[in-house]
Amino acid sequence: MNLFLTGATGFLGGELLVELAKRPDVERIFCLVRAQSIEASRMRIAKVFNLHDDLFDSQKIIPIVGELTDDHLGDQLTANPQLRNVNTIIHAAANTSFSKVYDDNVERVNIGGTHQLLKWAKTLEHLETFTYVGTAAICGSTFKECSVTEDLSPDLTAIHLMKYSYSKMIGELLLRDYLPEHKILVVRPSIIMGDSRPWVPRSCVILWALATFNQLRMFTMNPQSSIDIIPIDYASHSIIELLFSQKRKHRVYHISSGRSSATTPEQVFDALKDCFPGMPDFKFVSKSLWPTMKKWTKNGMVVDHHNPLYEHRDYLEYWIDHFGDNMKLRILFHALEPYLNFIDLSQTFDNSRLLADTNVQSPVPAHIYISNSIKHIGSINIFEGALDY
Ligand SMILES: NC(=O)c1ccc[n+]([C@@H]2O[C@H](COP(=O)([O-])OP(=O)(O)OC[C@H]3O[C@@H](n4cnc5c(N)ncnc54)[C@H](OP(=O)(O)O)[C@@H]3O)[C@@H](O)[C@H]2O)c1
Repeated sequence: MNLFLTGATGFLGGELLVELAKRPDVERIFCLVRAQSIEASRMRIAKVFNLHDDLFDSQKIIPIVGELTDDHLGDQLTANPQLRNVNTIIHAAANTSFSKVYDDNVERVNIGGTHQLLKWAKTLEHLETFTYVGTAAICGSTFKECSVTEDLSPDLTAIHLMKYSYSKMIGELLLRDYLPEHKILVVRPSIIMGDSRPWVPRSCVILWALATFNQLRMFTMNPQSSIDIIPIDYASHSIIELLFSQKRKHRVYHISSGRSSATTPEQVFDALKDCFPGMPDFKFVSKSLWPTMKKWTKNGMVVDHHNPLYEHRDYLEYWIDHFGDNMKLRILFHALEPYLNFIDLSQTFDNSRLLADTNVQSPVPAHIYISNSIKHIGSINIFEGALDY
């Protein structure tokens, strides 16, 4: 197999790269990498392997310098003779930010970049499979408290909580404009958080939100909401199993916990509660308090006994003590809002296709495997994460 992988320096792409590199049936992996030079791109790839001391075979792994927002990317790839024999593409790169600030770039990378790749993919004589890493979140916010199946998306009338999921939906829709059905494989992971192995997770994406909730201690969340979360090792293993599966019957697969292995906020925070001694207990409060909490971070108003936050004033005092000033809380609240909205949907994503068409079993629920990432949660810089994600 001659593979072309995007997103190799990221959370999922990095894991896919390391695992695919170990397979004898994979001859070459060309990786699209953003860098100033080929040498710099090699260093970025080497870092991916060095994280857990995996072997970087420079004969097998070949970086290709490129940028998805470049309007000439498709032509550049087409003109590159090294890439003529590529028969499998895994497109895992994306701008995954939930923040409105990055909306323009999210569209340029996730829609424009996919368009460029497909333009090139269409010219490949030996192309067998184009694997598009989408997201289960493309179903939008209409589905609440239910198990969502693959066939419910993409739906152009879906209401999206953020540009990110909209752009991933449009990216997925583009596939059919360029490639025949039999060459398309769409994998839609749910929420990928941490690693179920006892080592440093490849990225703090999503774990950042957990680290922030861990410091806030009080949040507007239904403790019984269902959350579909999987660890990175499960996500990567499932995608690779699907790619090589002889039993694949569908074009689209959820890579998810499904209802049976989903978790709840209560279970996750229960797993965390004894790990940070000296901090206040976790407290779930009604969603109706969120606007007042946001207002409080804005103007630091006095909370008298008429204010619904009055009964929670010990937490407000803890916040002032812990975070120093309200501006920091405002930044955190702003960044957390999409996550709160998402948790509120209480969606799980049906994984019966994945379980039927591969040898993959259901994942370990997040409240169980999270114990392996807990020691890293304390070292996450939550303010940096709030600005970046
Ligand atoms: N993490 C999740 O919970 C989750 C859930 C569902 C689906 N997904 C999907 O899984 C895929 C991987 O996500 P992730 O969590 O691994 O994201 P990530 O850690 O943010 O990695 C994103 C990757 O995309 C690359 N990239 C971003 N903009 C680019 C550009 N303009 N040109 C070239 N490369 C660019 C990044 O390169 P740099 O290193 O140069 O920035 C990085 O390698 C995405 O398609 C995402 O939509 C993720």
